[in-house]
Amino acid sequence: MPVLKDKELRIVGFLCNWCSYGGADTAGVARATQPTDLRIIRVPCTGRVDPLFVLKALFGGADGVLVSGCHPRDCHYSVGNYYARRRLEVIKRFLPILGIDDRRFEYTWVSASEGQRWQEVVTDFTARIHKLGQAPRLADASPMLKIAELALSSLHALGSNLSAPLDELKAAIKAKLPDLECVIGWQKGYDGAHAVPLFMKTPEDVDKLIWGPLNVMNPAVYLPDFKGRKIGIVVKGCDSRSVVELLQEKLINREDVTIFSLPCEGTLDMGRVNEKLGRYTKIDKVNFDEASVYITADGKEHRFCITEYAQGKCYGCVTPGAVLTDVVFGKPVPVSPGKFTPPELAMLDSMSLEERMGFWKAQMDRCIRCYACRNACPMCVCRDYCISDSRNPHWLDQEATPENKLFFQTIHAVHLAGRCTGCGECQRACPVGIPILALRQHIARTVSELFDEYKSGMNQNAVPPLLTYATEEKNIHERDL
Ligand code: FES
Repeated sequence: MPVLKDKELRIVGFLCNWCSYGGADTAGVARATQPTDLRIIRVPCTGRVDPLFVLKALFGGADGVLVSGCHPRDCHYSVGNYYARRRLEVIKRFLPILGIDDRRFEYTWVSASEGQRWQEVVTDFTARIHKLGQAPRLADASPMLKIAELALSSLHALGSNLSAPLDELKAAIKAKLPDLECVIGWQKGYDGAHAVPLFMKTPEDVDKLIWGPLNVMNPAVYLPDFKGRKIGIVVKGCDSRSVVELLQEKLINREDVTIFSLPCEGTLDMGRVNEKLGRYTKIDKVNFDEASVYITADGKEHRFCITEYAQGKCYGCVTPGAVLTDVVFGKPVPVSPGKFTPPELAMLDSMSLEERMGFWKAQMDRCIRCYACRNACPMCVCRDYCISDSRNPHWLDQEATPENKLFFQTIHAVHLAGRCTGCGECQRACPVGIPILALRQHIARTVSELFDEYKSGMNQNAVPPLLTYATEEKNIHERDL
């Protein structure tokens, strides 16, 4: 029987079979009066609630989503709700960056005997959603294109890495080459202004290796393909975090991988470089000095100062040296202490929920759904089993709507929760320059706040926080409904 006078709203409830569903049943048997807005989906355990269920419901038009399960320590499967608690808290904190009010989602615990508590929970949550009203729809948001202010200060000196001991590195690779199937690095690309991957199998290949601000790509993306084979990789500091994360998740074996590294002084944001170069037919030459790269295209020289044209991630980089390496040359680059908020994330932080939704609407209108972001990501390892391509279950359809495109980005971001090392390959690979890294950075910041400043890819023996649980959580507190 409806107890709220207004029109019904769409509220989806995911209830664990063993406790909350029983609690709802107990309330029903006791004829406890409840609002009728909630549509219940029974799940075996809250551990079965993929955070994407919550997002799918909200993107699909739900005005509110409630997850309810057994109290901590009472889970029928012992620990399902401990895992769920971590994931659901992360997703709750993620919603505002998409422009969704986090009060529209709640999770709680109700046991089978707590009919009265269930009545209170459902009444209070429904009243909350009625107070908030119908959820704003992405399709109705006013598109707002905004570009973040560039950061021009960084946590370590940026430069063109001219003095890096590349010859020593090449000699070391040549010495190890007989024991390895190949060593992955970078070589001059289709013109001198762009680098492409290099798979070194012979000493002549090693001579093609380059090092410097043009080495933007993260070679760790190729490592899982070589699992079980002896392989070498040349890394920048940020790339090394991806290697460590792959080791943490046992996607590669430590004994198979030889890591070569040099300290990195930053890499160029090729999107902005290409924009400044404009249309050209030929790169005539590329020169470097300590602070800049000079590219001459069609007879015209352009200067790119690294402090001005570095990739966004380089300004906040605290790992210019590899966090794990077997062979290293060169002096470490000193890093100043301090916190750094990436420019796009800072811009989103300063916006209202409505503005954020408008921002993503405008950005998703530009997305061509090429999946370059997914394919360039070293931690996106499902390959042929990516759920965005799956028709069973059917998570996404082929319509090029902003909802579909943003939902794909949230799938990617949520799958990287506690795993993304911030290498920025998703954003770099995007042909239309959508700042999608900000979604991953937001989740990484949340994970760090919740789980003792955890940073992915820093310790090969650490377990990513969302792949484990704690019976008592220091920073996750139960909310009363
Ligand atoms: Fe109820 Fe796990 S069985 S939360």
